[in-house]
Amino acid sequence: MVRRASSLNTQRLDHIYQDVHEEDAKLFLHYADMTDTSRLITLLQELEPSEIYNLAAQSHVAVSFLEPELTGEVTGIATTKLLEAVRVSKIPCRFYQASTSEMFGDSPAPQSENTEFRPRSPYAAAKLYSHWMTKNYREAYGIHASSGILFNHESPRRGETFVTRKITRAVAKIAAGMQSKLYLGNLDSIRDWGYAPEYIEAMWLMLQQDEPDDYVVATGTAYSVRDFCRIAFEQVGFDWEKYTVIDERYLRPTEVENLIGDPSKAKAKLGWKAKTLTPALVKIMVEADVNLYSK
Ligand code: GDD
Repeated sequence: MVRRASSLNTQRLDHIYQDVHEEDAKLFLHYADMTDTSRLITLLQELEPSEIYNLAAQSHVAVSFLEPELTGEVTGIATTKLLEAVRVSKIPCRFYQASTSEMFGDSPAPQSENTEFRPRSPYAAAKLYSHWMTKNYREAYGIHASSGILFNHESPRRGETFVTRKITRAVAKIAAGMQSKLYLGNLDSIRDWGYAPEYIEAMWLMLQQDEPDDYVVATGTAYSVRDFCRIAFEQVGFDWEKYTVIDERYLRPTEVENLIGDPSKAKAKLGWKAKTLTPALVKIMVEADVNLYSK
């Protein structure tokens, strides 16, 4: 599904999208908006999908403090609209909900499927609502609905305002002489950063199971924002401390300090295990941005 905008914003799909005859196309984009229930129903009736992946969200944690209500509508209530569309259309499709490690908030690490949820942002609270609604539609209506509780997953296609891409892009631009400093907020946060393509495979695996369920998807390893920054600058032979400046604008009203996943269940039930750990991920992302900006 794609939202209508006056300029194109689908660049990250350009490598898949081809302007060819319907029968030869691998990807179709259908105009729809997650806040429009009637459109969700007509689209489902038209397509009769076998699997639905709900990754739609206002997904930036810091922005959710500025736009809490919109975040609630899109990241929270819209999931119910989509689940309702599945229920009333009676199409026997499987449903994936993109839940998130942010739901754990300040619960002590490592976090598993049994850890208490203690959300610390409007984004996390909205995602938690969607998480519970997915579980409720599974139990109340027998819908094959699963939630993947994904820890941070990154790639060269990551949006530029998330910290990993902000860092790797800055490293490449600084190396190319196009930028002089990198302004960051909290360097002490610990995250469990994995490689997005592998996490997509885990999502798909969840919908291939006979029974729907919830799964933590993570590497099980911990690095701070400071570590990520240091490793990224090391890739181009620079000392991160010379270029990085703390800027209070990037601090959040409430922070999630420590997210480290326990992916044992995904390993046991889905046979899934992360292959790319954070240092290898940093290398992939820095290389991609160096390539981009050296051009
Ligand atoms: N974005 C950003 N920009 N984050 C910064 C900065 C900065 O300049 N400086 C420090 N940080 C810190 C944040 O405070 C946070 O602790 C950490 O870096 C990671 O921030 P993000 O990359 O914005 O990701 P996130 O962990 O808040 O959320 C992402 O991961 C979740 C999965 O746990 C998003 O992709 C969410 O949508 C996703 O659910």
